[in-house]
Amino acid sequence: MKIEEYLASLPDSIISGEEVELREDTLRDIFRFAGLTRDDIFYHLGCGRGKSVMIALDEFKVKKAVGIDNNQDKIIKARQMSDEKHLTNSEFICQDILNSDLSNASVILYWFSDEKINEKMLSKFANLREGCKVITIWGPLLGCIPDKVSFPYILNIFPFKKAKDLKEQTLAIFETDCIDFVVAWEFAERYTKAIGSKDSNSDRFLTILQTLVIWINAKNLGIACGNDIPDPVKSYMGILKTFFNIEVEHLLDKKIL
Ligand SMILES: C[S@@+](CC[C@H](N)C(=O)[O-])C[C@H]1O[C@@H](n2cnc3c(N)ncnc32)[C@H](O)[C@@H]1O
Repeated sequence: MKIEEYLASLPDSIISGEEVELREDTLRDIFRFAGLTRDDIFYHLGCGRGKSVMIALDEFKVKKAVGIDNNQDKIIKARQMSDEKHLTNSEFICQDILNSDLSNASVILYWFSDEKINEKMLSKFANLREGCKVITIWGPLLGCIPDKVSFPYILNIFPFKKAKDLKEQTLAIFETDCIDFVVAWEFAERYTKAIGSKDSNSDRFLTILQTLVIWINAKNLGIACGNDIPDPVKSYMGILKTFFNIEVEHLLDKKIL
């Protein structure tokens, strides 16, 4: 079956990533990457149960930390946690991030892959405070060149630098002139390690899928190294087809995954 059919067969919550919460050590890595300090007013858009807010206040001593999520149960749990831990400078707001007020934010953690939300949030981000840092994971803000990358973490500082095109933007993230199999694998693995659970048995499978996604996108964008399909890419396509009945080769004709 084509990979699109395989993805469609998975539960919605897996595809939307709704239930994926970043691990505490991943959040610490992200905050070190962003250089979170005592002077910051930190916002987490889609904060879930509020772990990030707790770590930002407890360990990074930010001035204030605000979590926003449209799931009421999660916000109730976040507020309970905040009360138990006496996080006086925390605030949890139950709302759609499209209606959020981000005017006093100095650092924003924003991990959304839904294109529609990303497009709408761009106009909201156009009114940020100068110097405000927006951290994204895996993908950059639409059409922007990042100020700093430690893949899969990406930092854009307002006012954002516009990318000429998707090619320029992708190469800036991968910090290379072209993408070969090894680069695709290394970046896929960094992503899997950052967002996966510590004891996951399916990491290798995810890394294979992500590697193929990265390499095929690079090929379709004209930024893969060389003209041929690398042997390991052919092998993994074969493994997916033979052992998992998942076909990805047809994507090579498409512009983007
Ligand atoms: C941060 S997102 C991560 C989603 C996914 N991993 C991705 O790449 O898009 C997950 C959290 O955002 C929340 N959420 C989803 N849509 C939202 C919205 N429009 N406004 C506020 N919170 C939202 C969910 O309740 C969940 O706690």
